[in-house]
Amino acid sequence: MKKEQLEKIKEWFDEYVAGFYGDDEYFNANIELKDRHSRLVCAESLYLADELGLTDEQKQIAEVIAILHDVGRFVQFERYRTYNDPRSVNHSLLGVKIIREHNVLANLTAGEAEIIEVAIKYHGDKQLPDNLSGEVFLQSRIIRDADKIDIYRVVTECYEQYENDPDSFKLEIELPDEPWYSDEVLQKILTGRRIDYRDLKTLNDMKLIQLSWVYDVNFAATYNRIRERRFLEKIIDFLPPNDDIKQVAKTVLEYVDRKIKQG
Ligand SMILES: [Fe+2]
Repeated sequence: MKKEQLEKIKEWFDEYVAGFYGDDEYFNANIELKDRHSRLVCAESLYLADELGLTDEQKQIAEVIAILHDVGRFVQFERYRTYNDPRSVNHSLLGVKIIREHNVLANLTAGEAEIIEVAIKYHGDKQLPDNLSGEVFLQSRIIRDADKIDIYRVVTECYEQYENDPDSFKLEIELPDEPWYSDEVLQKILTGRRIDYRDLKTLNDMKLIQLSWVYDVNFAATYNRIRERRFLEKIIDFLPPNDDIKQVAKTVLEYVDRKIKQG
């Protein structure tokens, strides 16, 4: 891929997203969230690509994947007014469909387009399919990690805004903000097991699942980012200050430290 091709794809993205903004403040705030997220995921993918010592060619592919990975989000919100996939549509598959309809990858080689589409298709799945290998496996892991790093920024910023001024909070809150959390979710995070989104009942459960994402990180560089930005500590501060949560904090922070030491 040439540098100009990457630039053309970014220009397409700019124009495409610009078309979604209108006069509804709530709608615009939600579009802006994913618009900004897409751009910041590019920065995180480049950081990871650098840390992993990738070639310029590989970095360009990583950046195309990053800018387009959530391209399905805009139509998803327009049609369903939610970013909740189970309640609406699989935004990753919708993204691949949009990329094809708009011929966004038309000037790339078939091999490049394949890597990009596959990485986008699976970026939001609970797990990657186990038949991926080589370049597509590498790029699929990069986008999943880069995405998580920036979602940590998004959620910690959201919790801060919501706590400071819940009435003027402009984003969707998908679960009831009640003082409790589910025992099932707590037990799963303490034992390092995967939590299903269907297990979530309260906003605190959502915070716990976000902490459990550390069990699904691919690269030491990602753990370094999570640690240096103190995302886990910030989320923990928005949970009830009791012994359960102290235990959760200890479990996830120690896990991350171990992963960093292992390199
Ligand atoms: Fe996504």
